[in-house]
Amino acid sequence: MNLWLLYIQKQKFLIILNFHLCSLIFFRGRMIPEDLDEKITLAKSQGTVPFLVSCTSGTTVQGAFDPLDRIADVCEKHKLWMHVDAAWGGSVLFSKQHRHLMKGVDRANSVGWNPHKMLLAGLQCSVLLLQDTTNLLKRCHCANASYLFQQDKFYDVNLDVGDKSVQCSRKVDCLKLWLMWKAVGSAGLEERVDKAFIHVRYLVEEMKKREGFQLLREPEFVNVCFWFIPPSMRGKEGHADYQERLAKVAPVIKERMMKQGTMMVGYQPLGNKVNFFRVIAFSPLLSKKDMDFFLDEIERLGNDL
Ligand SMILES: *Cc1c(COP(=O)(O)O)cnc(C)c1O
Ligand SMILES: *[C@@H]1O[C@H](CO)[C@@H](O)[C@H](O)[C@H]1NC(C)=O
Repeated sequence: MNLWLLYIQKQKFLIILNFHLCSLIFFRGRMIPEDLDEKITLAKSQGTVPFLVSCTSGTTVQGAFDPLDRIADVCEKHKLWMHVDAAWGGSVLFSKQHRHLMKGVDRANSVGWNPHKMLLAGLQCSVLLLQDTTNLLKRCHCANASYLFQQDKFYDVNLDVGDKSVQCSRKVDCLKLWLMWKAVGSAGLEERVDKAFIHVRYLVEEMKKREGFQLLREPEFVNVCFWFIPPSMRGKEGHADYQERLAKVAPVIKERMMKQGTMMVGYQPLGNKVNFFRVIAFSPLLSKKDMDFFLDEIERLGNDL
């Protein structure tokens, strides 16, 4: 699920904060702005007050990107806070070729992004970007402890972040991003992103040449979701127990790859789709040889199933 519509429900004199998961319709994992607009209008007509739309740039499983520009229109129309969960996909902004996927992100009120994913910063390194310039985090989180964070210093105390977060003591996670950025530059980060897309394109084309690999769909990002169909099941899609048998293939292959120590690739079901693998190849150290190994290895581990 990649959209949450949170709203406050007014019940007489009580204000109840309801985490209401709106049942939106999705197209290829993407939010449909017209549907969002309708559901907001519906929620309002039921006496509720929607206040936030959370879009996703790069969903965890399918790697889908919501159409941010058109969602921003809906948010502006209804005066809603627009948040973008770009934890996974946010790094495409470094790529001139692929940043169009996030067109409209500049209109969001807030954006979350994890450099520790695609850019390979050490875990953990997460960013929250806010459009707000009124020191919102300080206003929300400050504790004003008189023994900490003195205000009568010789420099601009707005630079102090200690009183802006829920935790007090914590690691300087941003240093990892800063050092990495200094070390490889914007061009180096762009290359990481572009390379991942190139690897994925190669992997997808190779899969299409092999009989046992069936893509869930053409990837929009670098998530490659696929089933491996063992030889004994090929051409038997019509059989009554086909889906049930297919659901058991990925867990067995995964168990084998772990026990033999060759790979670690995740799988999951999604809606009415039974267990399928999700492979994401974004390490800059990878080469085509690794992709070929991956495909050969899945075949080797699953051919007798
Ligand atoms: C990974 C991910 C998260 C969670 O980020 P953490 O830093 O692991 O908490 C949230 N949203 C999406 C889309 C993700 O892929
Ligand atoms: C902290 O101090 C500021 C400035 O005096 C004040 O506006 C704010 O309400 C205080 N916050 C808390 C949590 O006490």
